Amino acid sequence: MLCIDTEGRGIGADIAAAAEGFALRVAVSIEHAGQLAHVRPPAVGVVVLPGPGTGTAALERFLSEHATIRWVAVCAPEALQHGPCRQLVHDHCIDYHTLPLDRQRLRHTLGHALGLAALGEGQAVPHGSHAMRLTGDSAPIVGLRQRIAKVAAADAPVLIWGESGTGKELVARAVHDCSARARGPFVPINCGAIPASLVQSELFGHEKGAFTGAARARPGLIESAAGGTVLLDEIGDLPLEMQANLLRFLQEKTIHRLGGTRAVPVDVRVVAASHVNLQQAVARGSFREDLFYRLNVLALEVPPLRERRDDVVALAQLFFREYAAERAPHVRGFSSRALAALRAHDWPGNVRELLNRVRRAAVMAEHRLIGPADLDLAGKADGEPPLALHGARVQAERHAIEAGLHAGKSVTRVARELGVSRMTLYRLMAKHSIVTPARRRTP
Ligand SMILES: Nc1ncnc2c1ncn2[C@@H]1O[C@H](COP(=O)(O)OP(=O)(O)OP(=O)(O)O)[C@@H](O)[C@H]1O
Ligand SMILES: [Mg+2]
Repeated sequence: MLCIDTEGRGIGADIAAAAEGFALRVAVSIEHAGQLAHVRPPAVGVVVLPGPGTGTAALERFLSEHATIRWVAVCAPEALQHGPCRQLVHDHCIDYHTLPLDRQRLRHTLGHALGLAALGEGQAVPHGSHAMRLTGDSAPIVGLRQRIAKVAAADAPVLIWGESGTGKELVARAVHDCSARARGPFVPINCGAIPASLVQSELFGHEKGAFTGAARARPGLIESAAGGTVLLDEIGDLPLEMQANLLRFLQEKTIHRLGGTRAVPVDVRVVAASHVNLQQAVARGSFREDLFYRLNVLALEVPPLRERRDDVVALAQLFFREYAAERAPHVRGFSSRALAALRAHDWPGNVRELLNRVRRAAVMAEHRLIGPADLDLAGKADGEPPLALHGARVQAERHAIEAGLHAGKSVTRVARELGVSRMTLYRLMAKHSIVTPARRRTP
């Protein structure tokens, strides 16, 4: 639960008492709230409204950007006479409380809001749904879905690697949803978004008095995932000393809260994700080798979108249906030139780039069909060159792999010479229907 209190009016104690047991995090500015929400999006938030005369535009923007959180407003009675504040409560909050606060009533509202959020999650995330959400019928995605199912059945740590925007978080959720832990919590943590000084207490929690301001003991994010799965996203950003603590947790299945002496047993499956190549980070000395091997027990590589172009149209249509039906009902779909442009583009930002282009196009399109210009891909649809270039690249890829394998080199050696992982090479071989000469001889 997140509380935004930018004015520090001395009502923090009332709110903390009302939220006792709900793991409350307090943000003292909108930027701070953004950081906390990014690290771990809360289901419910309390927003203390500024007094009349203070601008509400930044707060309005923040609440709009975090519309999935159920907000409860707390304000002085006179704030409701102020047009913008009244509008803000009306547009973004499920309830409001005026000062002086009735702790008991606020506690009921917060419990009710959490209950509503849980109901919503129940509807939106039925068992296995994220595995189904991994849209695509290309060979790499079909293979990935099969590997997810196998990995989910085990209980060892998982390491997910893939370029930015390829769908690593979706894959992590799929692993959780398909596992025996599906009914437990799934807690995504963006390791890169936690300030270094707070990592220890955020991840492992702290005891009362562990540092100035630690008025009471608080469990960490790892503990809050007990019975479920924790996703340590961008694990490469974890400071080295925290890597040591994480390794200890993986080995002993216990955590030590900051300022505490006892070992607390925690039953959590760790899934880690990274867009940087951790093996290279190990070579550079910025990632512990022992932690890498511990996490890399089960590895999943999420292929970039340019290696599964067959999925681009299906994904674009999915995002169009999900988004445009409501916001741009006059737009009916994509023109054939837009589809050609989508297929020809190289997608350096992967699925996230596709999602953003489709959303923007749906809003910007003036005609019934989205054209290449709406997708900002006008150059790509004009004639053959991009497709021809793509064809040439595919051919070159195929020749390079065949040359190595047919010269009798092992898959490991060819992968090394081409500068890709063995998994990538196997995926490329499947894509080009290349079998190793030895396997081809087998009847
Ligand atoms: N195969 C897919 N089917 C449907 N949606 C997808 C697929 N892959 C990715 N997405 C969507 O694309 C967006 C980006 O995916 P996600 O956040 O999982 O990527 P990521 O690899 O974690 O990116 P980053 O490295 O930037 O954190 C999300 O909205 C996700 O739901
Ligand atoms: Mg991610």
